[in-house]
Amino acid sequence: MTTVFLNGEFVAAQDAKISPMDRGFLFGDGIYEVIPCFNGKPVGLALHLERMNNGLQEIGIKYEAQESQWRNHIMQLIAQFKSDAVGVYIHVSRGTDSKRFHAYPDNVTPTVFSYAFEIAPSQAVDRNKAKEYSVITAEDLRWQRCHIKSTSLLGNVMHFQQGQDAKKDEVILYNDKGIITEASACNVFVIKDNVIMTPKLDNHILPGITRKILLESLKRTGGFTVSEQDITLEELKQADEVWITSSSKELGAVVKVDDRVLGDGKAGPMWEAAQTAYNTHKFVL
Ligand code: PDD
Repeated sequence: MTTVFLNGEFVAAQDAKISPMDRGFLFGDGIYEVIPCFNGKPVGLALHLERMNNGLQEIGIKYEAQESQWRNHIMQLIAQFKSDAVGVYIHVSRGTDSKRFHAYPDNVTPTVFSYAFEIAPSQAVDRNKAKEYSVITAEDLRWQRCHIKSTSLLGNVMHFQQGQDAKKDEVILYNDKGIITEASACNVFVIKDNVIMTPKLDNHILPGITRKILLESLKRTGGFTVSEQDITLEELKQADEVWITSSSKELGAVVKVDDRVLGDGKAGPMWEAAQTAYNTHKFVL
């Protein structure tokens, strides 16, 4: 029986109860995080909590996650698993109101929920063994505030489902000018002629923690040419390599974009070098 964290207490999952009047349920009014932990150590904990606190502040939810407290909660949640690879989900909604009314209510207490779940182990850095991802592309039809890690994920869910319906792993999104934003649940990196490119941060993409740690790892390792810039759909399709990054995937090597096979159809040599750099630095950032 799994134990979860709800409003300051650790309780059995089946005893965790939230009112249907919770604004998280009625409006998707909340912020969430997913933190990967390997061998009992969270990756980028301070960065995840900083992003969560920024999101909470931006939408006016009065809750501030404290790192020492959350480190403790996370350790208790992950201790339940034998696996070396565990993800922790944290969800803070605005709280439970007495009525359904769009405006932010005064005097409600945020609902804080967290639980842990097994994730895939950190991948071996071997291009012959790497998990391979096939993606399709689609116009980004989400809202203009994608930098907020909101629990209102219907736009992302619908895009992800487009990929599932096409029997693909992910959907890389582009805006109405044909510029890549991100994927439905990942950031995107495009490699051409040894230059590692990724869309620059703005309100159309989530400031991914894996993206951030990867950029810093590449800088610390040295020898990589990296550019945060606009990338067109055409450039994506002509790429030597494409990676999708997220807390649960680390660097996912894309081997097929729509009908085009990239390189020799396997994870590329730059992927190997970048995943190695990421593994070297992921716990120190
Ligand atoms: N997804 N962009 C979107 C839209 C995402 O949902 C995610 C993460 C990312 C990558 O962010 P990070 O590197 O901080 O995980 C980018 C998570 C894992 C999820 O919703 O399950």
